Amino acid sequence: MDIPRTYPFPPILTLILLSFVVVVVLRQVQLLQFTTIAGSKHGHSVPLDRLRMKLSGQNQLHAIANSGELRRNKFSHRTATRKVGKLEQTLAAARASMRNAASESEGERSNLTVATTVHDGGDRNYVPAGAIYRNARLFHRSYLEMEKIFKVYVYPDGELPIAHDGPCKDIYSIEGRFLHEMEHGAGRFRTNDPNAAHVYFLPFSVTWMVKYLYTPLSYNVTPLKHFVSDYVKVISTRHPFWNRTHGADHFMLACHDWAPHASQGNHFLYNTSIRVMCNANTSEGFNPRKDVSLPEIHLYGGEVSPKLLSPQSNNITRRYLAFFSGGLHGPIRPILLHHWKNQDGDIRVFEYLPKDLDYYSFMLNSKFCLCPSGHEVASPRIVEAIYAECVPVILSKYYVLPFSDVLQWEAFSVQVDVSDIPRLKDILSAISEDEYRKLKEGVKAVRKHFTLNRPSKRFDVFHMILHSIWLRRLNIELR
Ligand SMILES: *[C@@H]1O[C@H](CO)[C@@H](O)[C@H](O)[C@H]1NC(C)=O
Ligand SMILES: *[C@@H]1O[C@H](CO)[C@@H](O)[C@H](O)[C@H]1NC(C)=O
Ligand SMILES: *[C@@H]1O[C@H](CO)[C@@H](O)[C@H](O)[C@H]1NC(C)=O
Ligand SMILES: *[C@@H]1O[C@H](CO)[C@@H](O)[C@H](O)[C@H]1NC(C)=O
Ligand SMILES: *[C@@H]1O[C@H](CO)[C@@H](O)[C@H](O)[C@H]1NC(C)=O
Repeated sequence: MDIPRTYPFPPILTLILLSFVVVVVLRQVQLLQFTTIAGSKHGHSVPLDRLRMKLSGQNQLHAIANSGELRRNKFSHRTATRKVGKLEQTLAAARASMRNAASESEGERSNLTVATTVHDGGDRNYVPAGAIYRNARLFHRSYLEMEKIFKVYVYPDGELPIAHDGPCKDIYSIEGRFLHEMEHGAGRFRTNDPNAAHVYFLPFSVTWMVKYLYTPLSYNVTPLKHFVSDYVKVISTRHPFWNRTHGADHFMLACHDWAPHASQGNHFLYNTSIRVMCNANTSEGFNPRKDVSLPEIHLYGGEVSPKLLSPQSNNITRRYLAFFSGGLHGPIRPILLHHWKNQDGDIRVFEYLPKDLDYYSFMLNSKFCLCPSGHEVASPRIVEAIYAECVPVILSKYYVLPFSDVLQWEAFSVQVDVSDIPRLKDILSAISEDEYRKLKEGVKAVRKHFTLNRPSKRFDVFHMILHSIWLRRLNIELR
């Protein structure tokens, strides 16, 4: 990426100016007040504004990048060093632009322009605004910067079926959908020149590892770890990029429950790389400062149910206060079912829905949809509820909600502590009509960020995932 064309200075002067901006201007900006979510009930999350604060100067997130070990691996090749320097400059400029966005007034924002190469019939001029964002202006700027410069290199190594493919149906479908979009769509974000990339994608599927390498009922995940270990060995031997940062600018993406186990196959992948996973359980090693929470989207037969696609008319009356149906998995659902199964006409809680009843009709007819964790923290119900415009009620522990670095989940969902499950009806009934209307408006507004499109569209789930990766990448510096 070049320095913007409008820049009237030669590169050296630009550099001096940039360092001046970094040292003098940004120091001040850092002192500005940003919305803080300290005390948020949503477990762990790193909001965009807090990430921001860490952008400049010392590398706090990836201490490894400064370790002596890394210095030994430092570039010896001059041209390559220069290239990295240039990439880092464009990232520094993006960080600076984001800091400025945080201090601008609303009026100034309207002048932001969409990169001229963006083609998307639908939402070319979408401007994030409203309560669903932690800081809409900062997110908008960050997103536009991403569109302008962000480049991903997909390693060509590895073979089908486990590499370069993933499931596009059923509960882990986001794995395949992301991978295919990255490899075959998403032209603007992909580069074939690894020296021009900001991040490197390891395009394997943990779901396919389980399908092809795992012995059913053996509960032995060693073959998965071996695959991952071998894959990293191959790319780190054939290409210079992994060793340069010990994988800090590399990412994997997987929705399968065992993704964290598989990632243990390489010590640095686990502890240093960006792991994009549905299983975002902080007490199982998910680290929100470097890892990304991936929404689970259940595509029966590969598509979203047409019932969920037809938008609800606003004034339809929803007959039930709340709905849940699902198996008795994991630590939270037994509590929910114990207290509410067949207990109350307003809170419709089923273990398995009788054959003559329709799951989505219940969602469409309920004001709130209960989304308890199962065996793992993530639940496809959250996205289904959003599609059905049914306000999600999050019942989980240790779960980092998807995109919580930019989205204000409080504006479109309700978080109920597991210990408050017995009081569920009181809690939901106490939400006034007015509050409920706002939550529902929030759900409608946030839907676009959870929507899968083929090909992908601006601000949809694919782009939100990329944006989460972009934010993690902004936090590291190669030195
Ligand atoms: C935005 O545009 C308005 C009118 O076109 C102009 O007055 C204002 O100075 C611009 N703001 C910035 C930051 O460029
Ligand atoms: C990266 O490091 C590993 C282990 O130290 C080494 O085997 C490999 O050859 C290195 N890769 C490159 C491209 O130098
Ligand atoms: C991650 O780092 C911790 C602390 O250094 C270490 O104990 C752990 O074994 C590492 N995890 C993996 C999977 O290598
Ligand atoms: C419900 O909404 C539709 C369109 O959204 C409108 O035509 C209709 O009049 C509304 N009905 C009531 C009872 O408000
Ligand atoms: C999250 O991880 C902890 C620690 O391993 C585990 O006890 C808990 O059951 C997990 N949560 C879910 C919903 O799987």
